[in-house]
Amino acid sequence: MASTLVPHGIRRLGVLGAGQMGTGIALVSAMRAKVPVLLYDKSPEQVKKGLALVDKLLDKDVGKGRLTNDEAKDVRGRIEVVPAESGFKGLRDVDMVVEAVSENLQLKETIFASLAAELKPEAILATNTSSISITKIAAATLGKNVSPASEEGKRIASRVVGLHFFNPVPVMKLVELISALQTSQETLDRARSFAVACGKTVTVSKDVPGFVSNALLMPFINEAIMHLEKGIATREDIDTTLKLGMNHPMGPLQLADFIGLDTCLAIQKTLYEGTSDSKYRPSILLEQMVNAGWLGRKSGKGFYDY
Ligand code: 3HC
Repeated sequence: MASTLVPHGIRRLGVLGAGQMGTGIALVSAMRAKVPVLLYDKSPEQVKKGLALVDKLLDKDVGKGRLTNDEAKDVRGRIEVVPAESGFKGLRDVDMVVEAVSENLQLKETIFASLAAELKPEAILATNTSSISITKIAAATLGKNVSPASEEGKRIASRVVGLHFFNPVPVMKLVELISALQTSQETLDRARSFAVACGKTVTVSKDVPGFVSNALLMPFINEAIMHLEKGIATREDIDTTLKLGMNHPMGPLQLADFIGLDTCLAIQKTLYEGTSDSKYRPSILLEQMVNAGWLGRKSGKGFYDY
């Protein structure tokens, strides 16, 4: 049965976090969905890096003839930076915010409690979490005095949804849509419609640790690390086997470096703790590498040197 997309109604988007994911989300929103974006990060240094990446990608598109100079200027002009000192007050007018900070439940809970207090009552609060429970994040939007069972409590939490983009966001065609126990159908429909406007195909997952994507990807990456740890093959042979034997664009160790080993470990811990299933136990080597500060591409060293 054909389904009709509801209008997303996002006239202005907030993006929280100017790391590789947040920057990519800001770019596709400004370029494909053509919405003005307010980009917030508590670190001005991070914002600078994010905007430099946006400029580089837009220059590449102009160089390849996919955008004219004027179109690139328009896209860039749609991305505005919220000064760090404004805090979330600077996001007050947005119709949806997509949070893309690091994978830390407490951090996300604090952020969502503040967002729910600062944003318009009808604004959608989306998280780009890779594995953390959307239901827990939604519960955190209620202040101490609001009962989750009250009409007010249900209304506030119903605006929270998982909108999981993939890295690099401008290239990867998927968004995973995750409904918390509290999410309303209207929130889901609008979030889906926005992801489609960004040029993405949407799949839906229940709110289980890692959703569909990372519940399948992370054990695969972890198993590759365990193969390396046990000396079954070299890093190159493990990666080449998967690249040439299975046509994966990157081998699993290269992919782990690309995602970030700290992110991989955080997701694996969420999977392990959330399911108590030993198949998700992170490898000791991964834990050690993160302890050493070898986080993959972003730190210059992971399974490979960069
Ligand atoms: N940001 C934006 N664009 C990028 C990019 C980046 N960081 N890195 C590469 N690209 C673009 C290039 O500019 C190029 O675009 P063009 O075709 O328009 O010129 C295109 O991607 C191809 O790049 P290259 O030719 O330089 O290199 P490759 O052909 O090797 O492709 C890749 C690079 C797209 C990253 C490819 O290796 C790939 O698809 N790798 C797997 C990525 C993947 O699996 N991502 C999902 C990770 S899991 C995740 O994000 C979930 C989270 O919860 C953990």
